[in-house]
Amino acid sequence: MKTILLIGSTGSMGKAALSGLSHHTIITANRSGVGAEYVVDITDENSLRSLFEAVGTIDAVVNTVGYCEYGSFQEMTNEQWRTTIDSKFIGQMNIVRIGSDYVRDGGSFTLISGILSVKPIPMAIADATTSAAIETFAKCVVFEMPRNLRVNVVNPTVLEESWDTYGEMMPGFQAVPGVLVGKAFQRCVEGFISGQVITVDA
Ligand SMILES: NC(=O)c1ccc[n+]([C@@H]2O[C@H](COP(=O)([O-])OP(=O)(O)OC[C@H]3O[C@@H](n4cnc5c(N)ncnc54)[C@H](OP(=O)(O)O)[C@@H]3O)[C@@H](O)[C@H]2O)c1
Repeated sequence: MKTILLIGSTGSMGKAALSGLSHHTIITANRSGVGAEYVVDITDENSLRSLFEAVGTIDAVVNTVGYCEYGSFQEMTNEQWRTTIDSKFIGQMNIVRIGSDYVRDGGSFTLISGILSVKPIPMAIADATTSAAIETFAKCVVFEMPRNLRVNVVNPTVLEESWDTYGEMMPGFQAVPGVLVGKAFQRCVEGFISGQVITVDA
């Protein structure tokens, strides 16, 4: 039994992660505070520091937050790129940077990317690019993590539970059930892998 901080617990991916981790003690957080125990904005360094200080020492952090703007490359503004980078890349990187003081020896961070990093589609260049960036970050940062702390990324295809939202922009993709993605989060938290990207595709 581990104590796990799950950021983004109320979202579709957070619920998928929860399905594989519910036998642990889960501490939940999101930005609105609706349906979660703690409030945090992962794009705000001070907010992240306050969260970890309030939660205290834990065994693992699972993050499923990574807000993305969608549009064609020609239309995407600097602000849209910045918003996506601040959440899906810098926000997740800061969870590891700031949170590593609060995770027990041998504990883990599990981050989120998405299948578009390897299967690009129109209008999703910022999601795809930042997903690839966080995967590269995880592969590299493990060489510098103290106390055997582990870092992995789950890279799922679209969830069955999210098909109504994303299906139209993803013709030819096969959705997977959240419980299957939950098992990838479970492997990352309960296993010994580090610096890995666990792809869950159909
Ligand atoms: N859904 C899919 O099929 C799928 C597939 C592959 C990859 N992904 C990736 O998974 C990630 C999450 O997607 P999702 O579908 O789960 O989104 P979602 O359903 O909109 O959930 C987002 C979650 O993050 C919280 N949140 C939003 N901004 C936050 C912030 N700045 N700080 C802290 N919490 C914040 C939300 O809670 P509040 O708004 O209440 O604060 C909510 O709990 C995205 O990066 C997405 O690309 C999703």
